[in-house]
Amino acid sequence: MMTVEGISNLYGVLNADGDKSVTLRAVLLGAISKGETVIYNPLLSKDVLSAIECVKALGACVLVDGEKISITGAEKINDNCIFNCENSGTLARLLIGLLSGLGVNATIIGDESLSTRPMDRVCEPLKLRGGKIEDNNGHLPVKIYPAVLTDFEYFMPIDSAQVKSAIILSGITGKCETIIHEKNPTRDHTERMLMQFGADVNIENKRISIKKSELTGCEVIVPNDPSDAAFYVGMGLLFGEITVKRVMINGLRDGFYRVLKNANANIEYSNAVCNFYGSVADVTSKKCLIDYFEVSKRDIPTLIDEIPLLAIIAAFNNGCTIKDCKELRFKESDRLNGIVELLKLAGASARVKNDDLIVEGGVLPNAFNYGSNDHRMVMCAFILMSALKGGVLSGEEYASISFPSFFKNLQNNKLCLIGKDLSKSLSGVMHKHVLSELNQENFTYQMHSLNSEEADEFLKKLSYKAINATIPYKDGLFLASKEQSEASLICKCSNFLLNGTAHTTDGQGLLLALKYQGQSVNGKKVLVYGMGGAGRSIAFALKQAGAIVFVENRTRSKAVDFCKNVEGVSLYNGEDCDILINATPVVDEILFDKQKINQRVTVVDINYNKSNALLDYAKKIGASAYDGKDMLFFQAYIADCLLIKSAIDEEVAFNLYNKYKVKYEN
Ligand code: S3P
Repeated sequence: MMTVEGISNLYGVLNADGDKSVTLRAVLLGAISKGETVIYNPLLSKDVLSAIECVKALGACVLVDGEKISITGAEKINDNCIFNCENSGTLARLLIGLLSGLGVNATIIGDESLSTRPMDRVCEPLKLRGGKIEDNNGHLPVKIYPAVLTDFEYFMPIDSAQVKSAIILSGITGKCETIIHEKNPTRDHTERMLMQFGADVNIENKRISIKKSELTGCEVIVPNDPSDAAFYVGMGLLFGEITVKRVMINGLRDGFYRVLKNANANIEYSNAVCNFYGSVADVTSKKCLIDYFEVSKRDIPTLIDEIPLLAIIAAFNNGCTIKDCKELRFKESDRLNGIVELLKLAGASARVKNDDLIVEGGVLPNAFNYGSNDHRMVMCAFILMSALKGGVLSGEEYASISFPSFFKNLQNNKLCLIGKDLSKSLSGVMHKHVLSELNQENFTYQMHSLNSEEADEFLKKLSYKAINATIPYKDGLFLASKEQSEASLICKCSNFLLNGTAHTTDGQGLLLALKYQGQSVNGKKVLVYGMGGAGRSIAFALKQAGAIVFVENRTRSKAVDFCKNVEGVSLYNGEDCDILINATPVVDEILFDKQKINQRVTVVDINYNKSNALLDYAKKIGASAYDGKDMLFFQAYIADCLLIKSAIDEEVAFNLYNKYKVKYEN
C-alpha cells in the first residue's frame, strides 16, 4: 500500500526499462538456438524472470548479470516438465507454440490471473497443424504431447501478436513452414528477431512466411519499452515536461504517440537513430490541451497496452472514443471495465458501448483509494491519483511485472522549489534543461507554492534530495540546514539545500549573468537595493568579486545589520554607482533616485516575467537594463553543478543558456 500525493507540476528526465516483448522473445529464441545468445539492456521484470525459469526447465543454460542475460541454447530438451508462466500471457502463449513442435510432454500453468485468460486462441490453430494439445476449457493448465506438425497457412481471426508469434514458433520448433495473414498488422518483434537468429523470413505487408529454419544464437540489443515510456510521457502531458530517453519507436508500437500527436499533443522526438526493431529516439512531452480523438480498430494493436492511459489523458482533455477494443477484456484484468471503473472514481464520465470505449472530458478534483493486481492499471491509477488529490494505492508492487523501475525512477532524484506563488516560475523547465543537457537521467523537479504553515511543515520533513527556495522561504531553508557553505553562513540565507547543507547561489548566479552580458564588476561601484536573501547573497558575491558594494533597504536597519556582518560592504550614502540592482520584489515603483540612472549605468532587476517600472525607465534613458531571468538561469546552473558535483564552467553555462533560449523562447 502506498500513499499517493496530488502533484500540480512535474519536470524531469526519466528512463523506461528494456522492452518486455523483445526481451521475452529473445529469451525464448535463445533457448532453442544453437550456441550462445547475449541479451543487452534486457528488462529484468517478473515476467522475464518467469521466462528465464521456464527456459532453464527446458534445458537452456541462463546467466543473468544485471546488465545482460547470456543464454546457451538447450542441447537436449527436457521431457515432462511443468512450466510456470506466473502472470505472463505473452510467455504462456509463445511457450505453448514453441513446445508444441518440440516433441515433448509438457504442462503449462500460471497464476490466478493468467489462469482466467483465454488460451484457446493459440491452442486451436496449433491443433490445426497437428499439435497434440489439451486445454482446460480454453484456459491453463495446458498439456502438450509429442506430435508431428505440418506446414500451415493461417488467416488470423483476431489481431494478436501473441497468437501470431505462437504459431510462428511452433513452425520453427516443428521444422515446417508457416504462412500467416493478419487482418491488421500487430507488433513484428518475433519476425524481425527470427531474421536476426538466421531464420528465412519473408514479410509482405500483412502476409508473413517463415520457411523451415535452424536458429543460431546472436546478440540482441533491447531498446527501451515504448509502453513503459508512455506512462512518463503521459505525466509530461498532464504535469509539465518530461523527456524519456532512447525509446523504441516501432511503427507497430507507436500508436499512443501517433494518436496523441495527431490530436495536437505536445510530443516531440529527438536524437533518433535506426535500430533493428525500428528507430530509437528521446521523447519529450509538454503539458498542453489535447483535442478530442478517435482510435480506429486498425490502430488498436499499435497501442493495445496504452488504452487505459490514453483514456485517462483524454479525461483531462476533450475526451476520446476508442473503437472496438474488446481485446482489452482479455488482458491481465478486464481492462475495459477496469478503466471505466477507475475513471468513475475520478468523477469522469466513461462508458462502454458495443465494445467502444467512450470517455468525456472532465474530472473532479477528489482523492480516492484504488487497488489492483494488474500492473498497467496500477501505474495508470497512480498517475490519475497524482493528477487529482492523491489517495491510497494498493497493488503498487505489481508494477514490477512489466516496469520494475517505474516508482524507483520517480523517487530516485527528487528535486524541488518552494516559494509562495510559483505559478509563473521558470525553475522547472530551467533545471530540467540544465540537468538533461548535463546528461543526467532519472530525476524529477517539482515546484511547490506553499503558505507559511505549509512551508513550516515542509521544512520539518525535507523529503527531497535537494530543495531550492525563493521568496519568502530563503531564511527558513537556511534555518532548516545542518551545515552551511561560507556564503550561506555569512548571508544567513539559502536558496539551495543539498544533503542538509545550505548554499546560496543567487550571488554567483548574478555574477555569471553580468558576465554573460559582457559587464565586469571588479572595481565597479554597485548599489544593491534590498536585503532579503537574494540581495544579501548578491552583495556578498559582488564584494568577493572585487566590486565596491553599497547596500540599501526599505527598512534601513536590515542594511545596517548586513554591513556590520560583512566587512567591506557599506551603507548607501548617495554615491553615483556604475551598477544598480533591485533585489526587492517591488516592480511597480522605482526605488532608486532617478537622477542616478543614466546611459553609463547598468540596471539589473532580479524580477522577471512582470512589467517593470525600473527597467522601462532605464531603457528609455538609454541605460543597459536586464531583468532577473539570466540570474535565475545561472543560479539554477550553479545549484545543479553542486548537485551533480561538477565544476562550474562559464563557457558551458553560457552555451546551456543560449540553447535554453532557442528551445524555450522562440
Ligand atoms: C504482446 C502482445 C499484446 C500485448 C502484450 C504483449 C506481445 O498482446 O497486449 O502486452 O509481446 O506479443 P496481444 O497480441 O495478444 O494483443
